[in-house]
Amino acid sequence: MSNGLNVKPATGKLGILTPGMGAVATTFIAGVIAVRKGIRLPIGSLTQMGHIRLGKRTDNNQPLIKNFVPITELADIEFGGWDIFEDSVYDAAMNAGVLEEKLLDELKPELEQIKPMSAVFDNYYVKKLEGSHVKSGPNKMDLAEQLMADMENFKKDKGCDRLVMVWCGSTEIFMEKSEVHASIEAFEEGLRNNDPAIAPSMIYAYAAIKMGVPYANGAPNLSADFPALEELSKQTGSPTMGKDFKTGQTLMKTILAPGFKARLLGMSGWFSTNILGNRDGEVLDDPESFKTKEESKLSVLDNILQPELYPDLYGDLYHKVRINYYPPRGDNKEGWDNIDIFGWLNMPMQIKIDFLCRDSILAAPIVLDLALFLDLAKRAGLGGIQEWLSFYLKSPVTPEGLQPEHDLFIQQKKLKNTLRWMMGEELITHLGREYYDDEK
Ligand SMILES: NC(=O)c1ccc[n+]([C@@H]2O[C@H](COP(=O)([O-])OP(=O)(O)OC[C@H]3O[C@@H](n4cnc5c(N)ncnc54)[C@H](O)[C@@H]3O)[C@@H](O)[C@H]2O)c1
Repeated sequence: MSNGLNVKPATGKLGILTPGMGAVATTFIAGVIAVRKGIRLPIGSLTQMGHIRLGKRTDNNQPLIKNFVPITELADIEFGGWDIFEDSVYDAAMNAGVLEEKLLDELKPELEQIKPMSAVFDNYYVKKLEGSHVKSGPNKMDLAEQLMADMENFKKDKGCDRLVMVWCGSTEIFMEKSEVHASIEAFEEGLRNNDPAIAPSMIYAYAAIKMGVPYANGAPNLSADFPALEELSKQTGSPTMGKDFKTGQTLMKTILAPGFKARLLGMSGWFSTNILGNRDGEVLDDPESFKTKEESKLSVLDNILQPELYPDLYGDLYHKVRINYYPPRGDNKEGWDNIDIFGWLNMPMQIKIDFLCRDSILAAPIVLDLALFLDLAKRAGLGGIQEWLSFYLKSPVTPEGLQPEHDLFIQQKKLKNTLRWMMGEELITHLGREYYDDEK
């Protein structure tokens, strides 16, 4: 057994800052406040409700994760963020229409006081939005410096010890890594020269990482996923991770596909379509933003099914993903999946899923867990990409040359074993040798 890492305690307050204070961010904030008041449960949050087994099964030792690792208490969180609209969190949550009015009214005194700071925004990168609560400056470096000043001021005003940033802003247009993303020097030069290959989400990510603040990205934008910011995150000791919250249909995919693969059932097609009527749906109605999302959603199946190892089972898979903006549904997405599988002697079968889901209800606990785990990673001295948080993401990011792991159950084992390793507990392999060998 190792001694574990020297994890600093979670003393003082943690500020959770979200660029973007729309449906997901406000559902997260209202939710945490409702839980703090004892009027709702934090369902879906591993940090709040999950247990972890320690030692042999016969030891019967399964503490709550929050009692095992030093996680920040919900009472010690301060909320802040940026948006292109000036609405308070109360007004934005009412607009989003995710939570009931009655609940929001109970939380109104707290929610009304949280107001977004002015945003770094450019409509070129999110075609469907126009907003007036936006910063201006001579160049992108100046905008990054304004964000850093916002963070410093927030920290001071709220008396926070530590900060984390979680991007909950809209999905930006599809962009690929280029020269300007290749090194810290090139990126900083690009910020000073207003390089168009630097989108607003990258400016937020740079500001956070430069200050040593952990950064998570809930959308599929490139944002921090390129060598310059990876390098900077190692230098400044900022934990970062992959991107795009794994909710809804992709969550279902990463639950089901490993099961079919485990039983060697073949698959010829997986068609996913949905209707969605919130602002995210409207932004994704723009083909350029949709392309960013599509890339993120499509990568999942190939990685889980490994067609190169199993050409007879998955070599001819047709995978299609559609998103349709349909205002009457608001945040209450309906997603349909048609899965064409085949079994013994190639006999075909079909599975249909109709998931009446609530997007922001699935995403809010992920925002909380990512913020708390990234803060834990920072206190444990872990900088750079935190692969163990892939559990929460559609697009996990790995160090150069490695394949990301999409199987939810492998991701869960990795997450829990990382916590055991951090705390100097024995890793659990599920070998089950305790019946034969007292040492395991
Ligand atoms: N809800 C889910 O299940 C889910 C899952 C995966 C990813 N996401 C992603 O999370 C993000 C947020 O989703 P949502 O439903 O809250 O969307 P939303 O449209 O309700 O909220 C996004 C907010 O970001 C703001 N914004 C856009 N650009 C900004 C900028 N540069 N700076 C500051 N604010 C900015 C918008 O004004 C808006 O208020 C989207 O990118 C979405 O694709 C959501």
